[in-house]
Amino acid sequence: LSSLLSPVIKGPALLPIIQADTPDDAVAIAKALQDGGVGSVEVVLRTRQALAAITAIRSALPNLLVGAGTVLTAADANACKDAGAQFLVSPASTPMLLEAMLASGLPFVPGVATPSEIAMAYEYGLREVKFFPAHLSGGIEMLKALSGVFQHVKFCPTGGVGQHNLADFLALPNVFVAGGSWLTPASMVKAQQWSHITALAAEATAIARQIKT
Ligand code: 3PG
Repeated sequence: LSSLLSPVIKGPALLPIIQADTPDDAVAIAKALQDGGVGSVEVVLRTRQALAAITAIRSALPNLLVGAGTVLTAADANACKDAGAQFLVSPASTPMLLEAMLASGLPFVPGVATPSEIAMAYEYGLREVKFFPAHLSGGIEMLKALSGVFQHVKFCPTGGVGQHNLADFLALPNVFVAGGSWLTPASMVKAQQWSHITALAAEATAIARQIKT
């Protein structure tokens, strides 16, 4: 249920990453994910066409919630908003970046990996954060350790999440959604294997719906 309360998640507790070289590819990936039951996506600012991709997905797939990821500066945050992003995700947290994302007026999920970064986000009133890179930062054991002290904070683990450990991450009460690139492998995007992406997404959707309902 917790995932449904988040302003950045629609549908199952999944936040797949879209990294595409062209807006057409981005729309095809987004449609493949949506066909597999996904309701929210994160378009990462790691290709030249990322902003155009956000705009294209918004117009082609109006039922999808479209966020922008890899936001690192105030300029990024503003450009994403102008492109039509409905929420922002950052891999890291600094006071300047948190203030820029707050100023955008969009919901956002800042990246954290340590108790001090969580505390900083908490001071800004934030209760949903991205735990990145999740696996390398201690994974499930770290999230359990953090749950005792940060009782009101919910995490989006990203980085090292896959079909094999999705259920374990989502089973944690302090995880509201799981994110990452495992549903959109670069090899499938390159080969335009959209039905493969839909199949992966459908599997993940089934897992997510079973655990977070
Ligand atoms: C991110 O942007 O959150 C990470 O690239 C996701 O990591 P992953 O590729 O291991 O899912």
